[in-house]
Amino acid sequence: MIIANWKSNIIDVNNWYTNFNNFYKSMSDSAIIGVAPPTIYLDKLVTNLGKGDSEIKVGVQDVDHLYGSRTGTISVDMIIETGCRFAIIGHSERREIFHEDNNLIKEKLKSLNKRAMVVLCVGETKEENEKGLTKDILKNQLEIVNKLELDKEFIVAYEPVWAIGSGLTPEPKDINEIHKYIKDVVQSNSANNLSPKILYGGSVTDKNAESFFREKFVDGALIGGASLDGTTFAKIVNIFNTIKKL
Ligand code: 13P
Repeated sequence: MIIANWKSNIIDVNNWYTNFNNFYKSMSDSAIIGVAPPTIYLDKLVTNLGKGDSEIKVGVQDVDHLYGSRTGTISVDMIIETGCRFAIIGHSERREIFHEDNNLIKEKLKSLNKRAMVVLCVGETKEENEKGLTKDILKNQLEIVNKLELDKEFIVAYEPVWAIGSGLTPEPKDINEIHKYIKDVVQSNSANNLSPKILYGGSVTDKNAESFFREKFVDGALIGGASLDGTTFAKIVNIFNTIKKL
């Protein structure tokens, strides 16, 4: 799966979609493509794509696990009603800027599980990486799946915090090793021993995507900056489709 995370950027949705379509080459076993726009563009994007039958699935960048008197938030029921198929949770920007902790992210996971596809983001900071703590940090962030019966579409996105928007990335072989580790941790701790798909995120571009997609345990990508342009995003999806058969 290849997912665009537009974060809080202004996008001309019609223009993006036209550019994407001009460059995207659909194949018989094409990757699942997702776009997570700012929530204010959700309806526009769903209308552009048509509910359900488009090759592009629409999702949200985050969601509230509750509903009702919760000023400023969007509930799981609302995103499903709008036509969203997936939700990103636990993004490092949510953890850092909005102080979201494992307890809250677990509530979000439970409220979405088996209703919409979950993309759980995990990743270590530069300091943690330099201290050799990456696997400990990931194990801690992944504790929220313990004893949970996970939906078979549950996805983890490995996004090293130091790679996001920085132009820096780990070596592809190191990403591969971490992805294998994440798969093993989720498989041994979830109630149904699910082996999830793992996406890589952090400074993925149309120039470096191939080096990641060639790795065995890289099942796709979660893309920020390079997804803001429909042409570049389509090129990355095309690269994925020529390398991996899903
Ligand atoms: P960049 O692709 O801009 O590094 O962002 C990655 C990311 O945070 C996607 O969720």
